[in-house]
Amino acid sequence: MRPWRPSDLEPFAALNADPRVMEHFPAPLSREESDAFAAASAEAITRRGWGRWALEVAETGEFIGFTGLHRPTFEAPFLPAVEIAWRLSRPSWGKGYATEAATAALDAAFDRLGLEEVVSFTAAVNLRSRAVMERLGMTRDPAEDFDHPALPPGHRLRRHVLFRLPAARRRERRDPAGR
Ligand SMILES: CC(C)(COP(=O)(O)OP(=O)(O)OC[C@H]1O[C@@H](n2cnc3c(N)ncnc32)[C@H](O)[C@@H]1OP(=O)(O)O)[C@@H](O)C(=O)NCCC(=O)NCCS
Repeated sequence: MRPWRPSDLEPFAALNADPRVMEHFPAPLSREESDAFAAASAEAITRRGWGRWALEVAETGEFIGFTGLHRPTFEAPFLPAVEIAWRLSRPSWGKGYATEAATAALDAAFDRLGLEEVVSFTAAVNLRSRAVMERLGMTRDPAEDFDHPALPPGHRLRRHVLFRLPAARRRERRDPAGR
């Protein structure tokens, strides 16, 4: 993970326009929307030192998307909180990159920022994203499932699942003996 560069904008727009990458979002993003998302992510990192970082393959330097931490701005019972999020280009799925990068983002959240908890959420039908949350040791209480307020009743993506990872559980996973 690294800060954003101007050269990321074109490949980021391409993955945000890919219907398979955006299957679990209301719609693919236009070039302007994609650029605005990258700019907002970059601005947050510059302002406070953390956020949704650009993601590249270590061996090749190829830009493949983003992973990182974000403060959601909508209204929900579990907010305010810091969420962990990811979006990778289709050819880079199935290689463990999202989980590897998210693990580094959790290190930043707990070790550097000292957060007490990180949450993650996604449309209930987004099984690939839910699998990343589970691989990270995050857990879901179905009682906390929620309807995303930006989506109308009956929308296929409205129902969302919430996963949590408290700092104490993260410590246990890293050092089961409690040393
Ligand atoms: C969600 C998303 C990031 C998941 O990507 P992913 O590549 O499936 O996730 P991971 O990085 O955890 O990789 C796990 C996969 O890599 C495989 N893999 C291969 N080599 C691996 C390695 N060295 N280490 C770990 N996993 C490896 C695993 O077997 C698994 O494959 P499988 O799903 O076919 O069983 C991706 O599908 C995506 O960007 N989706 C679109 C955007 C989106 O929905 N974002 C979330 C919105 S909330």
